[in-house]
Amino acid sequence: MATSRKTLLNSLMKHKKRLDEQPMRVQFALDPNRFKRYSASASDLLLDYSKNRIDEPTMAALFDLARAVDLEGHRKAMWAGKHINVTEDRAVMHMALRYQGDKPVKIDGRDVMPDVRAVLAAMKSFTGQVRDGSIRGSTGEAFTDIVNIGIGGSDLGPVMATLALAPYTRADLRLHYVSNVDGAHLHDTLKGLDPKRTMFIIASKTFTTDETMTNASSARGWIASALGEAAVTDHFAALSTNLAACDAFGIKSDRIFGFWDWVGGRYSVWSAIGLPVALAVGFDNFEAFLKGAYDMDQHFLKTKLERNLPVIMGLLGVWYRNAWGFATHAVLPYDQRLSRFPAYLQQQDMESNGKSVDLEGKPLAIDSGPVIWGEPGTNGQHAFYQLIHQGTSVIPADFLIAANPHEQMAPHHEKLVANVFAQSEALMLGKSKEEVVAELTAQGLDKAAIKALTPHKMFPGNRPSNTLIYPKLTPEMLGSLVALYEHKVFVQGTVWNVNSYDQWGVELGKQLAKALLPKVLGTAANEGNDASTKGLLAHYHKLRGMAE
Ligand code: F6P
Repeated sequence: MATSRKTLLNSLMKHKKRLDEQPMRVQFALDPNRFKRYSASASDLLLDYSKNRIDEPTMAALFDLARAVDLEGHRKAMWAGKHINVTEDRAVMHMALRYQGDKPVKIDGRDVMPDVRAVLAAMKSFTGQVRDGSIRGSTGEAFTDIVNIGIGGSDLGPVMATLALAPYTRADLRLHYVSNVDGAHLHDTLKGLDPKRTMFIIASKTFTTDETMTNASSARGWIASALGEAAVTDHFAALSTNLAACDAFGIKSDRIFGFWDWVGGRYSVWSAIGLPVALAVGFDNFEAFLKGAYDMDQHFLKTKLERNLPVIMGLLGVWYRNAWGFATHAVLPYDQRLSRFPAYLQQQDMESNGKSVDLEGKPLAIDSGPVIWGEPGTNGQHAFYQLIHQGTSVIPADFLIAANPHEQMAPHHEKLVANVFAQSEALMLGKSKEEVVAELTAQGLDKAAIKALTPHKMFPGNRPSNTLIYPKLTPEMLGSLVALYEHKVFVQGTVWNVNSYDQWGVELGKQLAKALLPKVLGTAANEGNDASTKGLLAHYHKLRGMAE
């Protein structure tokens, strides 16, 4: 029988024991080559992982672990179109959407590239015509506002990328994103928009998601009441795998952009779901985004594990999750335009690896995906970094920074860079008792004050981080970064032996919401639920002035 995951992961504990006794600052002092030893790059993207609790034997053990779980075999299976999404019996092939080569990419014996290229060509033509004003609204006016209605993977990727690529957008073509079923989202988005110049894109892989369909229906009503029912076809486009449902909604066939069941929702920004991004930044830039992801695919496929960025980052995450028990992981872009990158990664990572049974359906004997969270720096420094530096939880973090800003506004970027480097340094070094005492003594404090203040001013240090540094946040670099994290999730899912490509955990809430709606509306009796839910319903009815 193959060695169990638990046994494999337990074998890491001896390395933890050794590193527990040798903090990073000691290792840095002993090894002037530590940065060189523990940094790697994929084209222009450099990963510095030297500020981690690692040494050579630990890294060797992690790469051994990757080989023991047959990471390379699993990677090959994914690229060969095997149905690695076992619970939905589907291939996982979002890499085909950005494939730049000329070989066939086969799924179930069929080359999918002609279909992929046909949709890309349709997207190119459509986005070009909207941008140059040759596709217009029902009254003949050019579109100035595009509202994408979608949620989860049909929202987070496009929002994240549109914000990230703001320097490539046009002021006269504004993109808006509505996801929440909360009417406030649609209402506040439409406030001030002119129906004559507004186009809606309904983005939904299934075209059944309740939030999206509810928002789509209200948006349809908004257009129909302002411009008449006949205007709907001119003001709507759809992105979906469910072409029949798009048709039934009343969307013209040449405005329906399809994709396929081998593209997971959270991996779909490369597909037709990326249409709003292409509208915002132009198709050439969207293609550069795809190209950047393709470059990362090639890096992941062809670079040996020891120099492979997604593999290194994935294994470090496993190391902290399983050997050290760290439950969360922060993503801290020092790039305001990556403000939604952590939220995007939350779905990508937590919906993928937030699982507690293995591929065979057996309960996991090990921990799987961590909580992913984060905010851009430097804002986070004035909010939650206190806990990262001095709290009782250790939170491994990824810092992201571009060397070159888009704006020539010295000294803003220089200050941003100084801050990001300072944070990883502070986390690693910490501040010892001796250092605090020396500092307070130099400030002239008396002995009693020094004694009282010292524990508060000490930093434990030895807190791990990665730093990703790149020349500039271009469409290509953004594509590489997103693909890097996608493959990191794959690496971790392989080690944990989970299906990273299903998401049954979101179903129960959906089912219960559906069942509760008539009770919320008061058309069904408030009975059959637990006492809390029943009590909340009754109180809600009271607040709304409804009879129980
Ligand atoms: O949250 C569950 C989920 O199925 C996601 O995986 C998906 O991205 C999202 O809902 C939206 O689904 P759809 O694109 O089908 O509307």
